[in-house]
Amino acid sequence: MVIFGASGDLTQRKLAPALYNLEKEGLLPQCTTIAGYGRTAMTDEAFREHLRESISSFSRTQPIDKTVWASLAKRAFYQKGEYDQRAGFTRLHQRVQAVDKRLTTKGNRVFYMAVPPTVVTPILSNLSAVGSLARRQPGEEERPYHRVVFEKPFGHDLESARELNNDIDRLLAETQIFRMDHYLGKETVQNISVLRFANSVFEHVWHAQSVDYIRVTVAETIGVEDRGGYFDSTGILRDILQNHVLQLLTLVTMEPPSSLAADAIRDEKVKVLRCLRRPEGDAIGRSVVRGQYGRGAVNQKDVRPYREEKGVDPQSSTETFVGLRTYIDNWRWAGTPIYLCAGKRLARSLTEVAIQFKDVPAILFGAMKGVELRPNRLKLRIQPDEGVSLRFASKVPGLGMELKMVEMDFPYGSAFPAASPEAYERLLLDVMAGNSALFTRRDEVELEWEFVTPILEAWAKEKPPDFPNYAAGTWGPVPSQEFFSPETDYTEAAKGTKGR
Ligand code: BG6
Repeated sequence: MVIFGASGDLTQRKLAPALYNLEKEGLLPQCTTIAGYGRTAMTDEAFREHLRESISSFSRTQPIDKTVWASLAKRAFYQKGEYDQRAGFTRLHQRVQAVDKRLTTKGNRVFYMAVPPTVVTPILSNLSAVGSLARRQPGEEERPYHRVVFEKPFGHDLESARELNNDIDRLLAETQIFRMDHYLGKETVQNISVLRFANSVFEHVWHAQSVDYIRVTVAETIGVEDRGGYFDSTGILRDILQNHVLQLLTLVTMEPPSSLAADAIRDEKVKVLRCLRRPEGDAIGRSVVRGQYGRGAVNQKDVRPYREEKGVDPQSSTETFVGLRTYIDNWRWAGTPIYLCAGKRLARSLTEVAIQFKDVPAILFGAMKGVELRPNRLKLRIQPDEGVSLRFASKVPGLGMELKMVEMDFPYGSAFPAASPEAYERLLLDVMAGNSALFTRRDEVELEWEFVTPILEAWAKEKPPDFPNYAAGTWGPVPSQEFFSPETDYTEAAKGTKGR
């Protein structure tokens, strides 16, 4: 596995710990060798030390197991080189071939692009030119395999994503391409299809006739940490909504796939994205809210405003919050409002999907004094506090007829005490196994961009907003809170907007 961007943040926080934990579980083939490639000068020894420190700081299992680490360290080396010059790639190729001879890798290779999209095309061209990477023809036997993993951001808008896809398509077949959206590797995200299709009760009510609205929330308490430079030219619409939030939505709303094969699942997700109503013209102003955090307190600690974060322009108009309402114009979901929301420095860290069912007629209990009936609501808690809960009405024990809403709860932690693997562990293994079900296909990524690009264009034309417009540690800009705060039951608010 050759990692481009080996000295960067992703390798440190995610890739090195994932490889280590796979080795620890005995799941990493013993011939697997990790080659780092980057512009920073580093000896093999220094690279190994970098990996070791990354694992000590970020692995989910601690302390680091010396035997496991020693076995992995033996199989790691580093090659310095530029991305746009052949020399470093020639040397890399020689070293990779030497590994092929020494171990039983049989020429199988995974190239991991933990680099900005601007350097992806030169890297792929150089790998092909030196003979490290070969395009497979359709139907051709995939042995040895040459696979490439692409990290986000996959393009900056629809046009740049298409260009990138065209460049990649010239050098690789779609079966060799693994576009990463790490949310798909999370246990609770994989469980969405199990909940829906391995149980009979849910599908009967999983449609517009029974569902009042669906809300997908990715709320974080963290700010931009040390990624201010990247984030300021990206914004949360591109960083989280375009990918993670839309992926969650497709899994929750797609039709049952014909099988669990990668393309059967991706075909269904693509159908949802095709039917997702693109906010256009005036509708963008009415149905999309953007925000940027100012000074505030998160978990009782004062935090600085976004514009004072390292790497951020002090006049920045980049959004750190987005909330929007849309619809899926297909037979199953016609007329059901879909609320999508992502934000940084919000009141709580929470990723969840809420499916709110319709009210019962107020004929029997609704009219009773002192009874406050709420609609049923199913919550898929993606993280933290992973689980599924269903809210329903219950009689309060006693001689009167008092009703109370209660929650039936399935918490992952107590039902399955074993710690879950990290998303990256699962996804790296899937790349090696050639299973692309948890990776996004070309048409999927482009449709995601088709959805967000009109919003980006409309924002670019408007006068810059009056930012900051929410205090860190709250649920976002005030006018939008009634819709997007997971703590508000905004059925009433949602009702007021139906049909708009
Ligand atoms: C990344 C975004 O894709 O996902 C980050 O670039 C975000 O801004 C992160 O913080 C969230 O991932 P997770 O797994 O911590 O929920």
